[in-house]
Amino acid sequence: AEVIIVRDEQEAGRLVGDAIVDLVRTRPDAVLGLATGSTPLAVYRHLAERVRGDDIDVSRVRGFALDEYVGLPAGHPESYRRVIEREVVEPLGLTPENIRVPSGELEGIETAGEEYEAAIRAAGGVDLQILGIGRTGHIGFNEPGSSLASSTRVKTLTEETRADNARFFASPDEVPMHCITQGIGTILRARHLVLLAFGEAKAAAVAAAVEGPVSTSAPGSAVQLHPHVTVVVDEAAAASLA
Ligand code: F6R
Repeated sequence: AEVIIVRDEQEAGRLVGDAIVDLVRTRPDAVLGLATGSTPLAVYRHLAERVRGDDIDVSRVRGFALDEYVGLPAGHPESYRRVIEREVVEPLGLTPENIRVPSGELEGIETAGEEYEAAIRAAGGVDLQILGIGRTGHIGFNEPGSSLASSTRVKTLTEETRADNARFFASPDEVPMHCITQGIGTILRARHLVLLAFGEAKAAAVAAAVEGPVSTSAPGSAVQLHPHVTVVVDEAAAASLA
């Protein structure tokens, strides 16, 4: 992987956001893989600024979210469907019908994974996948032990990840136990992976992903199997790299 060390999240946002602008200029109906959580927010903010500056037409851009909680009430503000609408679709002015999020509704959950895979295939695959990484080493919500060949399916969140995400909910018990997530195999089918991480809490996960043995116990290490990976980290998240 190419590792780029940036000063701060804003610099990462400009770097990755500008790369996405270039992609959309050459491919106006580009397919973006969208991560949620805090890490990609600077990218989305920078992209929104470029769109406001009228630098690009994003009306045909398509997108697939990485994951969703299972069983939240429809329209819950922290459902990733709502988060993607609020942080990405609305500020960038994307066309809502072009943006998909896996369905975390209990009804139909058995087939939701396969349907999502079929939708990604029908779109011709993901051109650029934005990834964060969890302290547990997860990408998407593929926690340690996830098969490196996995596709979109329901998983159980680890206690550590539920605790990390409790900041978005009124109380820690409100964080769902389950999620539906693109698999590691799904993620590896994207044509370009851009993994972002900031802060010292991510240093161990970043080192394991970039330099550790490729192993299901460090799901992020799967990026080493991919021919086109860009890792964008601040000094703190890079601290454990050799
Ligand atoms: C989000 C996702 C997760 C996050 C990871 C880091 O869609 O799939 O892998 O990227 O949990 O979360 P933050 O960015 O909040 O530290």
